[in-house]
Amino acid sequence: MQSGAADALAVVHEYILVCTDCPLHLKRIQAVPGSGPAGARIMAVGEGPGETEDRVGRPFVGAAGNVLTKLLESIGLRRDDIYITNVVKCRPPGNRDPEPAEMEACSHFLDAQIEIIRPDVILILGRHALARLLPGAGGISGLHGRKVVRGDRLYVPLYHPAAALYQGSLMRTLEDDMLKVRGYLDEAEARRRQPVQAAPPVAHAQAGATKSHSPAPPSASPAHAEPLLSLVAPEPGEPVLRLGSPGATEPPTPPEPPSRDQLSLF
Ligand code: URA
Repeated sequence: MQSGAADALAVVHEYILVCTDCPLHLKRIQAVPGSGPAGARIMAVGEGPGETEDRVGRPFVGAAGNVLTKLLESIGLRRDDIYITNVVKCRPPGNRDPEPAEMEACSHFLDAQIEIIRPDVILILGRHALARLLPGAGGISGLHGRKVVRGDRLYVPLYHPAAALYQGSLMRTLEDDMLKVRGYLDEAEARRRQPVQAAPPVAHAQAGATKSHSPAPPSASPAHAEPLLSLVAPEPGEPVLRLGSPGATEPPTPPEPPSRDQLSLF
């Protein structure tokens, strides 16, 4: 299953590299899809590539990247174990904020990446990623360091690492928030280690009509238990994730932003 996720992620990356869906492609050196393993339990989502990222083709490799790496290491995580990406995959010229239309044009890529990786925790780096991933949830100053559960996803908004470069006092806040992230990860890990509950056997409704369910093998990660390549090879009639190919099919209908009470805060 793991190689299915890696293959699906590689396909998404290929689409990103040739995407021309918004004007950001005109000034880029290259698109920056993301980096890290498809089996990562943690995903970090930033704003958009900067100058160094545009040149190197990898996210968070400039000054903000150094801060991010140190923060991850401060709680015993290796950067290479984390999948890192951005809301927009091409550099906004002069490092300006990404525009709503640019974020919208890129959104199906981020959705696909999250769907494939299904991480235990998504670290939201800064206000643009927060607005994109948790619209209507509130501002970064109120949410930073808190667990936000939406559906089966767990998010932790954090100040953007670059903010700590400009405002030194935020570094302490980021470090404190990372300690909380360590705690959330430990909880998620403990949950994952709990034995899988055996599903009750399905009653014999009609002879031969149903098979009894076997429980999932304990070693199978529920995160990757579903077919991943259906993202790029949907059944006829299923909604299609538009991955930016020429002549691409319908874009997915954007989900309704959740109301505040659909979000659980901890
Ligand atoms: N580098 C990135 O890749 N993303 C950011 O948001 C900032 C720097």
